[in-house]
Amino acid sequence: MSDIRFDDKVVIVTGAGGGIGRAHALLFAKHGAKVIVNDLGGSATGEGANSEAALKVVEEIKAMGGTAVANPDSVVDGDKIVQCAMDNFGRIDVVVNNAGILRDKSFVKMTDADWDLVYKVHVEGAYKVTHAAWPHMKDNNFGRVIFTSSTSGIYGNFGQANYGMAKLGLYGLTRTLAIEGQKNNILVNAIAPTGGTRMTEGLFPAGAFDKLKPELVSPLVVYLCSEQCQETSSLFEVGGGWMGKVRWERSLGIGFNPDEGFSVEDVAANFEQLCSFEGAVHPKNNIEALKELMANIQKFA
Ligand code: NAI
Repeated sequence: MSDIRFDDKVVIVTGAGGGIGRAHALLFAKHGAKVIVNDLGGSATGEGANSEAALKVVEEIKAMGGTAVANPDSVVDGDKIVQCAMDNFGRIDVVVNNAGILRDKSFVKMTDADWDLVYKVHVEGAYKVTHAAWPHMKDNNFGRVIFTSSTSGIYGNFGQANYGMAKLGLYGLTRTLAIEGQKNNILVNAIAPTGGTRMTEGLFPAGAFDKLKPELVSPLVVYLCSEQCQETSSLFEVGGGWMGKVRWERSLGIGFNPDEGFSVEDVAANFEQLCSFEGAVHPKNNIEALKELMANIQKFA
């Protein structure tokens, strides 16, 4: 039997009625977790609702001897999902924010509705579920939270202004919640997955789609949520059997005397050096990030 177990732990996986979320739910159940399988069951663009999606995954978990309860609420009503976990199992240990939709359009064609709905499901939804679960995890002095970001947020992608904004926003949420959660053993990480699901049908070359099995994302997520893992505040890209960690990198930069100021021409003349990554730094927090700026002030004091 695996050493990494979730017996007596309760895990909420949102959007677990299909795709990557379903794979997470099945793997958590295999490792002994009691799982809330949440899914609104709508279309990939966020229309409609259907409770069947979550129920089917619960049946799969029960068939393999696991414990799970279906929940058909939207993540926007995160408190109801958390209440469902409390009513059925009396505690919450892990929240995997995975639910998502797409409303891809070039920026010029994007409507307010496309912008708002993508924000609502990804950002507000993840906020609502996590915010409702947070006090319970705090009380238990244990918690693990995963936010699902995207390479479209990290690097940008044509036609995904709304989605990219939402997905990188979730990384910002990750960084601050990791700081706030640490004293209560609540660890918070983000993943940017790639998986062959209904969301990515037709996007990958023939042959690649089948190799991007959703279940190749889940082992990292389950490990990050285990008692054994102490990682927090991190972002991982994962898919197709590969995974890697992402971090911020910043140039050493250029500094001028703050009392004398500097001109636009000074910026232009030094722009190449400003952008050079030779000797670049990788600040882990705000204090480290401000180190070079403070050193510049002191240099001219
Ligand atoms: P999917 O469409 O197969 O699964 C998403 C699930 O979320 C669906 O079952 C859907 O019913 C559910 N859902 C949507 N809105 C909901 C709401 N308001 N409340 C509750 N459930 C809701 O897509 P996939 O690929 O499995 O995506 C999972 C996550 O991974 C999403 O957050 C997506 O943005 C992200 N992602 C996926 C990538 C990929 O390559 N498949 C790439 C980057 C990010």
